[in-house]
Amino acid sequence: MQTELSRKLGIEHAAFGFTPFPAVAAAISRAGGFGVLGAVRYTAPDDLERDLDWLDAHADGRPYGLDVVMPAKKVEGVTEADVEAMIPEAHRRFVRDTLAAHGVPGLAEGEASGWRITGWMEQVARTQLAVAFDYPIRLLASALGPPPADVIARAHDRDLLVAALAGSARHAVKHRDAGIDIVVAQGYEAGGHTGEIATMVLTPEVVDAVDPLPVLAAGGIGSGPQVAAALTLGAQGVWLGSIWLTTTEADLHSPALTRKLLAAGSGDTVRSRALTGKPARQLRTAWTDAWDDPTGPGALPMPLQGLLVAEAVSRIQKYEVEPLLGTPVGQIVGRMTSERSVQAVFDDLTRGFEQAVDRLCRIAERSGR
Ligand SMILES: Cc1cc2nc3c(=O)[nH]c(=O)nc-3n(C[C@H](O)[C@H](O)[C@H](O)COP(=O)(O)O)c2cc1C
Repeated sequence: MQTELSRKLGIEHAAFGFTPFPAVAAAISRAGGFGVLGAVRYTAPDDLERDLDWLDAHADGRPYGLDVVMPAKKVEGVTEADVEAMIPEAHRRFVRDTLAAHGVPGLAEGEASGWRITGWMEQVARTQLAVAFDYPIRLLASALGPPPADVIARAHDRDLLVAALAGSARHAVKHRDAGIDIVVAQGYEAGGHTGEIATMVLTPEVVDAVDPLPVLAAGGIGSGPQVAAALTLGAQGVWLGSIWLTTTEADLHSPALTRKLLAAGSGDTVRSRALTGKPARQLRTAWTDAWDDPTGPGALPMPLQGLLVAEAVSRIQKYEVEPLLGTPVGQIVGRMTSERSVQAVFDDLTRGFEQAVDRLCRIAERSGR
C-alpha cells in the first residue's frame, strides 16, 4: 500500500492510525504504518512526556506523529471554573437523575474524574506542543480546524508535516489556505467528531478541491478493499481510528466495553452531542438516548457539555454500568468482531488490499485494457 506520500515519509504502508494509546501508536509504526498519538487526554505535561518517551523507545526508529485538539473558536482567558459557572442547574439535575436511574455509584472521596475538558483549550494544547516539539515527531495533526499560524510555522521550522481533519471540501480549502501539508477527509461514518458527508462522497470532493495537496481518507475504513477504494478515489492514504480500539495493544480499562464493541453492529452507533456538545459518532447507549431525547434538556454547547458530563463518564466507566457505557467509535465497529494485534490488522489490510487490486486488474483485463 505505497503512495507518493508513504514514500516521502519512508513508511511501508500509506495507512495512518489515530489512537489515544502509546502502545497502539508504536505498534502501528512498527507494522509499517504511521502511528499518531492523540494528545487530548494529556492535561499534565509530565504524563505526555512519559508516554512520548515510551513511544519513542518502542517505535523502533519508525516515524510517528501527535494529534492535538485546537478548536478554531478560541476560548481566550477562560478557566475551567468560568465554564463550570455557566452550566445551568437543570442540566446538573438531569445528570444526577440519569445516573441515579441506573444506580451508578459515586467516585471515592478525593478521587478525581479522569476525563477533563481542558485538553480542548488552546492553552493546554500549547503546553502539549511545548513538550512534543522536543521529540522527533514527523507529523502534527489537528482536529477541529488547522493549528494557529505560529504553530504551523514552528512545525515547519522543525521539518514536521502538518495535517488537519476536514468534514467538507470548504473546510479543506480553508485548511490548505492556512498552510497545512495534508488534509484528512473525515466522513460521516467516522468515530469521534464528524460532519454530515459520507467518506465516499467527501474524499473525491476534497481531493479535487485541494489538489495537489495530499489527502488521507478517513471514516468507515477497516479492510483492504476499503483502502483500495480510498486510493481509487484519489486519496494518498487512509487514516483509521476506530479499528484500533479492539486491538490487544489498546488499553480501554474495561472488559465490558470491549465486549460491547465486539458485539456491536454497524447500525449501533449514533452521531450525538452527548459527550462533548459537538456531534460525535459513538456507541448508541442509554446515555446518548437520554441526551438525544427531545423531552430532555438536550446537550449544552462545547465546552460546557464536556465539563458537565466529565465526572459522570468517569463513574460510568469505572463501574462499567453496561447500559450507559460507551465510547466514540465509527460505523466500522460492525467489522470489529474479535480482539487482534495491530500487526494482525495490518496483515488483513494488506491481504485484502492485494485481493481488491487483483480483482480490479482482472476487470480491466476483461475490458481489454
Ligand atoms: C475513540 C476515538 C477518539 C478520537 N479522538 C480524536 C481526537 O482526539 N482527535 C482527532 O483528530 N480525531 C479523533 N478521532 C477521530 C480519528 O482521528 C479518525 O478521524 C476517525 O476515527 C476515522 O474514522 P474511523 O473511526 O471510521 O476509523 C477519534 C476517534 C475515535 C474512534
